[in-house]
Amino acid sequence: MNNMGAGIAITGCGSAAPEAILTNYHLAQMVETSDEWIKTRTGMSNRHIASPTESLSQLSAVAAKNAIAMAGISATDIDLIILATSTPDDMFGSACKVQGLIGATNAVAFDLTAACSGFLFALINATQFIRNGVYRNVLIIGADVLSRWVDWSDRASCVLFGDGAGAAVCQGISDGDRLLSYGMYSNGSQNDSLNLNYQSDCQALVDGIIAQQGTYHPITMNGKEVYRFAVARVPEAIEKAMFHANLTANDIDWLLLHQANQRIMDAVAKRLKIPSEKILSNIAEYGNTSAASIPLALDAAVREGKVKPGDTIAASGFGAGLTWGAAIFQWG
Ligand code: UT7
Repeated sequence: MNNMGAGIAITGCGSAAPEAILTNYHLAQMVETSDEWIKTRTGMSNRHIASPTESLSQLSAVAAKNAIAMAGISATDIDLIILATSTPDDMFGSACKVQGLIGATNAVAFDLTAACSGFLFALINATQFIRNGVYRNVLIIGADVLSRWVDWSDRASCVLFGDGAGAAVCQGISDGDRLLSYGMYSNGSQNDSLNLNYQSDCQALVDGIIAQQGTYHPITMNGKEVYRFAVARVPEAIEKAMFHANLTANDIDWLLLHQANQRIMDAVAKRLKIPSEKILSNIAEYGNTSAASIPLALDAAVREGKVKPGDTIAASGFGAGLTWGAAIFQWG
């Protein structure tokens, strides 16, 4: 198709979360912690946990269907699906499984891994295909089930994570471009701050050749290091994006940040001189859902009628890698 010179608009969003809710009080029965500690240090109260019968692909498919319905198109109109996840059901990727579940028979689908920056990186990738005229309708999904990989005996990390999926439909438009600016960054020298590493056992195949057989487990994090990184790099990335979009903090209607810690969101808003009422936060209900957190928060705010068509949103994702990024877009 020739869609050359198209702009991009985000025309639909959707989300899904598992039914089971793990509260701070439940966690206090499992490790030495308290509702008070978790709430004051992170802003979290609940997180949703996928049951053995709920898969990442199913959650993603529900979120995707909701986004497609809001955009007013059908699954067969989708040209490309990018599933941002670090926790696929299948190490070969889960995007094609989602494609099958939603019946997007005309799409090509692949996974993208950039931890908690994944959704933002997927949005920026989708933009390239749309602006280049290659695809008109791109479905981006951010989904993670980190509960599968958490060390449930480590109080420093197990209280933080929950499961969920969020999706958005990006469409090529001829009247303008609603993604006003973006930036993507990574710093490999801080790679060991947050990991879900491969742990192997060795298996001798024949004399002199040893193969590894293992799994990825568990999440390890230097919380203080990641905290410091986030409060420094995120405002910087948003400031750069505002500069490139020719905007100031006064022009931003909503701050849509990766939901890692309410204190991080408050600190970023303060540094940018954006009033705290403009922070979109659902961290109390979902905790940190990694790649899902930005689209989950966006979907709730759109469906509540908080975010309205034309509103200017400054979004930023950050996390393992270390990776981070920012995008400024107008909703709808
Ligand atoms: O999505 C990827 C991005 N991830 C993040 O952005 C996470 C960034 N980091 C954070 O959000 C914060 O560092 C945490 C929430 C993880 C921790 O908060 P903190 O204020 O940095 O706490 P801390 O690690 O400095 O620990 C303070 C104290 C320690 O005790 P001592 O050494 O002062 O006696 C910890 O052992 O709190 C203790 N502690 C806990 N106490 C009760 C750590 N975890 C817990 C807990 N319950 N769950």
